[in-house]
Amino acid sequence: MILYSAMEKFLRKARGFAHSTTHFGGALSVARKLAGGSRLGQRAVGHLEGWMGKYTDYRTRAFDRKHGTDTFERAQLADLQVAGLDPRFGDWLYGPINPDFFAEMMRALPLRLGDYGFVDVGAGKGLALMLASEYPFRELLGIEFSPELVEAGKKNVEKYERSTGRSLRVEWVCDDFMAHALPPRPSLFFLNNPFPHSIATHAITHIEKSIAAHPRKVALIYRKPHGETVKQLDASPHLRPLKSTPFWHAYEAV
Ligand SMILES: C[S@@+](CC[C@H](N)C(=O)[O-])C[C@H]1O[C@@H](n2cnc3c(N)ncnc32)[C@H](O)[C@@H]1O
Repeated sequence: MILYSAMEKFLRKARGFAHSTTHFGGALSVARKLAGGSRLGQRAVGHLEGWMGKYTDYRTRAFDRKHGTDTFERAQLADLQVAGLDPRFGDWLYGPINPDFFAEMMRALPLRLGDYGFVDVGAGKGLALMLASEYPFRELLGIEFSPELVEAGKKNVEKYERSTGRSLRVEWVCDDFMAHALPPRPSLFFLNNPFPHSIATHAITHIEKSIAAHPRKVALIYRKPHGETVKQLDASPHLRPLKSTPFWHAYEAV
């Protein structure tokens, strides 16, 4: 029995390691260093990068295959009906979070997730919300400014509910995050690369103002923040760093 559970634990860890995007990224940066300026090395890194991208896409699509949802396909924000879209978005895309990467972030967060509601800032087609439903968050809120994506997200959640037999009770808000009054409840804000830095700065100020107006438990995970965004977060008098990795950063309210 002890041997069986040790084996099971080992296999779970090995599976997590094999599917780990962070380790992929780590391997890639080691490969880049090894390749240096050599042309052959650069080509090998290019191939490795292409292969990793394909594998990550394969793993992201696995969610849709399993649940009959449609979260994978990217979409240019400029092609969606977003009222008054800021031209600074340029060719910015909707793209889903990779589920393995999401699981890694959740595992690594030194927080009691059950103390927080999960707020997806730019919820897109709802993948992060559905993944978050597998953790003990108090509530799930998706804020997304494209009505088309909100519709797609709602349909996806319905399909996921049928596939899993669980009711998610997701609250959807179709609004610009910066214009939306944030819930004065304990919240973990999830930002999966939703905007360029020049816009991210307003989102951070919006969260800071909410913390100042309603002091409470707040955490924030930012995937793929721009260097300037990290500087702003690190300097915030309302936040302290919880975890910094090459691919994502987490903070909590002081
Ligand atoms: C990279 S996608 C991430 C989707 C989802 N969070 C996930 O991880 O699967 C970023 C999303 O943010 C949305 N978005 C960008 N700026 C926004 C804003 N100011 N208010 C609401 N949604 C926004 C975009 O429409 C897009 O769907």
